[in-house]
Amino acid sequence: MKVLQVKLDKARDYPIYIGSGLLSQTELLTRHIHSRQVAIVTNETIAPLYLNKVRDALVDYQLEAVILPDGEQYKTLQYLEKIFDRLLARKFSRNATLIALGGGVIGDMGGFAAACYQRGISFIQIPTTLLAQVDSSVGGKTGVNHALGKNMIGAFFQPQCVIADADVLDTLDDRQLSAGLAEVIKYGLIRDPEFLAWLEHNMPRLLARDKQALAYAIERSCANKAEVVGEDEFESGVRATLNLGHTFGHAIETGSGYGHYLHGEAVAIGTCFAADLSRRLGWLNEADVARVVALFKAARLPITPPTNMTTEQYVDLMAVDKKNVDGKIRVILLEALGKASLPTNVDLFQLQATLNEYVG
Ligand code: NAD
Ligand code: GLY
Repeated sequence: MKVLQVKLDKARDYPIYIGSGLLSQTELLTRHIHSRQVAIVTNETIAPLYLNKVRDALVDYQLEAVILPDGEQYKTLQYLEKIFDRLLARKFSRNATLIALGGGVIGDMGGFAAACYQRGISFIQIPTTLLAQVDSSVGGKTGVNHALGKNMIGAFFQPQCVIADADVLDTLDDRQLSAGLAEVIKYGLIRDPEFLAWLEHNMPRLLARDKQALAYAIERSCANKAEVVGEDEFESGVRATLNLGHTFGHAIETGSGYGHYLHGEAVAIGTCFAADLSRRLGWLNEADVARVVALFKAARLPITPPTNMTTEQYVDLMAVDKKNVDGKIRVILLEALGKASLPTNVDLFQLQATLNEYVG
């Protein structure tokens, strides 16, 4: 097992455990539980696969499983309330622990529920998708969607630990694996050119689920994420670079209806937009953009946007983004491959040019 640290301010530092067979390790699971009452928030797909494993490791606790429906469309205040309903019905106290067992949707919702319940209870992230293991479970961004914008309601709230068991990826389908690779590629593009080159050479191994290659990609991604979060927990600067491709991507997710495009797929398309815009600013050249597009293609990710969205829709949706200041659209771009810009005010003329090129 590898252990990385997210370094915040000592008292809130926490470990990321990465390895194999971790879900059945009682000592590891209980190391960060300091209560008798434990709620496991998961969904109807993950519960039959992994809930019993976690239950078996926690036999000495008062366990309550909250099983939500599966899907991005349920990442809403309405379904968040179901968690509160159950915790209150079972009289869970403020010292209770919540375990989020699932992908990014469950992690974001479980974390937000923990942040709000009785003004904050402890929580543990057990990410079960590649995307959640390399990105969403680390860093304490929690929340739900709103009909008018993705992840618009939420809180920064850090877990006690993250337990990333690579074995659970065995049941993940290929489309979801590729979606996770979009966020892995992101780290290479924004800050780790050596990793970017490694990904270009090793994409076939990752798609073939070579255990060693996957373990390396998870570890290197988490190391990158932990460093960025440690530097800028509340996103006043460098953390925003983790949003490469996301402003366009969130517009695609919201505009096409939550659940239609996977988050990682929307990010892949959005990053191609961002690369094109970076070229228009003279930061990337044609060959750089081609490398970005080729890598997403190699990861079996989409690179072209939905055909049913207009350029006006993108501009409208991008105007509701957490990076915007005074209503002005700001995006993360690439100054070079392996180096992201801080949030950059968009020249609407250039943005329109990119949208015209891709959206038509
Ligand atoms: P997801 O949570 O919807 O999971 C994808 C699918 O895989 C679901 O159907 C799920 O039930 C299923 N699944 C999960 N684990 C499985 C397993 N081991 N075997 C079989 N099936 C499994 O999607 P995701 O891609 O994990 O996460 C996307 C969400 O994460 C989005 O809502 C996005 O906004 C959020 N996100 C948050 C952050 C953050 O920093 N908080 C970062 C990136 C993404
Ligand atoms: N996934 C973006 C962030 O954690 O900041």
